[in-house]
Amino acid sequence: MANLAVFASGNGSNFQAIAEAVGRTSHSLRCLVSDRPDAYALARAQALGIAAHVVSYASRSREESEEEILKVIQPYAVDLIALAGFMRLLTPRLIDRYPQRIINIHPALLPKYPGTRAIAESYNSQDTDLGITIHRVDYGMDTGPIIVQESFRRDGCETMEEIESRIHELEHVTYPRIVIELLDAIDHGSR
Ligand code: GRF
Repeated sequence: MANLAVFASGNGSNFQAIAEAVGRTSHSLRCLVSDRPDAYALARAQALGIAAHVVSYASRSREESEEEILKVIQPYAVDLIALAGFMRLLTPRLIDRYPQRIINIHPALLPKYPGTRAIAESYNSQDTDLGITIHRVDYGMDTGPIIVQESFRRDGCETMEEIESRIHELEHVTYPRIVIELLDAIDHGSR
């Protein structure tokens, strides 16, 4: 088995989808880390019986917050970190401690539409194919090597809400699948 941590700042629907899927494997979702005490993801963690930790980013540097995150997750012997709507850019302080072991999900077909307005920018574009990207995390914003992309064709008549729902549906199927594949690979590699 391999150990997973998920970082989330908000709703946590991807966290929940991952938790439910990983719960059906021999792997373990050891903890949730959030930078926001009001994140709904925390309530989901409580309902799922998963340890949750809030690490503040207020009034200090990102590196100082990341030092606290490193301390918080250290006891869990984490093999893989999945960012799921974690709205903080990670620094080398954290990234270099988990080389190639931090992944992120982005609600657009990178390299198009990086950043926080990806769904709106995709929707407002002329693109006929929209989708999601799962990638490894490097020092940039949504720039790391792509692991997988999934897309769908829109007919142009959908509302923004309909497009948003399709993107989230795709995320909730794809992200758990990729997380489990990576945990399997880590598990096999360590034997
Ligand atoms: C997702 O759309 C993800 O792609 C993006 O942030 C959103 C998080 O949603 N990075 P949720 O908190 O998992 O519901």
